[in-house]
Amino acid sequence: MKAAIIGTTGYGGGELIRILNNHPFFTIHSVHTTRDEKPVSAEYPHLTGIFDKVLTKIDPDKISAEADIVFLATPSRVSGDLVSAFIDKNIKVVDLSGDLRLKDSKAYRNWYKHEPVADRILNEAVYGLSEWNRGKISNGTLLANPGCYPTSALLGLAPVLTEKVIDPKSIIIDAKSGVSGAGRSPSIGTLYAELNENFKIYKVNEHQHIPEIEQQLSLWNGEGVTVTFSTHLIPVTRGIMTTMYVNLKEDWNTSRLLDLYEETYQQHPFVRVRKQGIFPAIKEVKGSNYCDIGLHADSRTGRLTIVSVIDNLMKGAAGQAVQNANIMFGMEETAGLEMMPLYP
Ligand SMILES: NC(=O)c1ccc[n+]([C@@H]2O[C@H](COP(=O)([O-])OP(=O)(O)OC[C@H]3O[C@@H](n4cnc5c(N)ncnc54)[C@H](OP(=O)(O)O)[C@@H]3O)[C@@H](O)[C@H]2O)c1
Repeated sequence: MKAAIIGTTGYGGGELIRILNNHPFFTIHSVHTTRDEKPVSAEYPHLTGIFDKVLTKIDPDKISAEADIVFLATPSRVSGDLVSAFIDKNIKVVDLSGDLRLKDSKAYRNWYKHEPVADRILNEAVYGLSEWNRGKISNGTLLANPGCYPTSALLGLAPVLTEKVIDPKSIIIDAKSGVSGAGRSPSIGTLYAELNENFKIYKVNEHQHIPEIEQQLSLWNGEGVTVTFSTHLIPVTRGIMTTMYVNLKEDWNTSRLLDLYEETYQQHPFVRVRKQGIFPAIKEVKGSNYCDIGLHADSRTGRLTIVSVIDNLMKGAAGQAVQNANIMFGMEETAGLEMMPLYP
């Protein structure tokens, strides 16, 4: 299968190269840029002698005629315009941005401060939380890859919400991300002097991932769910740790909850549940497609603490995008994604 990548010079695009260059079924047919045509290694010297393909201009007609799938590792707003150029052509599209994730175009306008794509496109787009939407993904041609924070939060909350073990009104999500989550474009907030030895909260109650998380939780719950969601920047390159606090409806203890998580995820190779008393750390998933989960129920407060970690560029972006592409083409879900975490 031939893959094209747009947004190649960004972090998500770079990670797609790392995965697809070793993929057993996909070959990277073409890589694209809005900038000057040059070998990828001129932009990413670590690829010298490994992947020297030349970046070329974005020509949707040519890409659709030549490739089987295109990955859009492009910013929100840009992806929406590009999708319109690929729709109805004979090519599958996986979009890493937020442009196709929200089904409610009004919500998109409110949170992204931009005009949404046409409703027809939103209706066609499949939300690609791989472990929970496999059926639709396998029949999809247009895929909205989930956001990094939503992936970690939703995988952590899904078992207890779908089993109706928790009060859905009580969900608090406290998330921390490494700086590659902000992409490769320079900004003051991601300067070394701002970030190093620092720990900052940002977009309090205003993060655009709030409606995405609420949309999926509401679907599972059968009625609307709102959440308190806080995001922080931590001085690491990769990794997200999401800690969730929820009120338990019944008297479930840690051991019973862990059994529920083990059972829910036993068929899902990329979700690993820690044993009682053990919690995952971001380095334990770095460079891999795993989402690792630990939890503890506090009988004193009746609250459950769930901890979920992912690599934002892998399970939070390029890794899950390839996992979804594998599912869309009927390949083994794990193809090209079996790399161990990079530790330490
Ligand atoms: N970073 C993460 O952890 C993460 C996680 C989940 C989802 N995402 C999403 O994935 C997408 C890519 O993120 P990223 O972190 O890789 O961003 P990034 O590092 O800023 O890279 C984005 C790339 O998009 C290309 N681009 C910019 N404007 C364009 C335009 N008008 N037309 C075509 N291409 C354009 C640029 O490539 P050229 O300059 O070469 O054209 C740029 O290198 C974003 O939508 C982001 O929200 C990122």
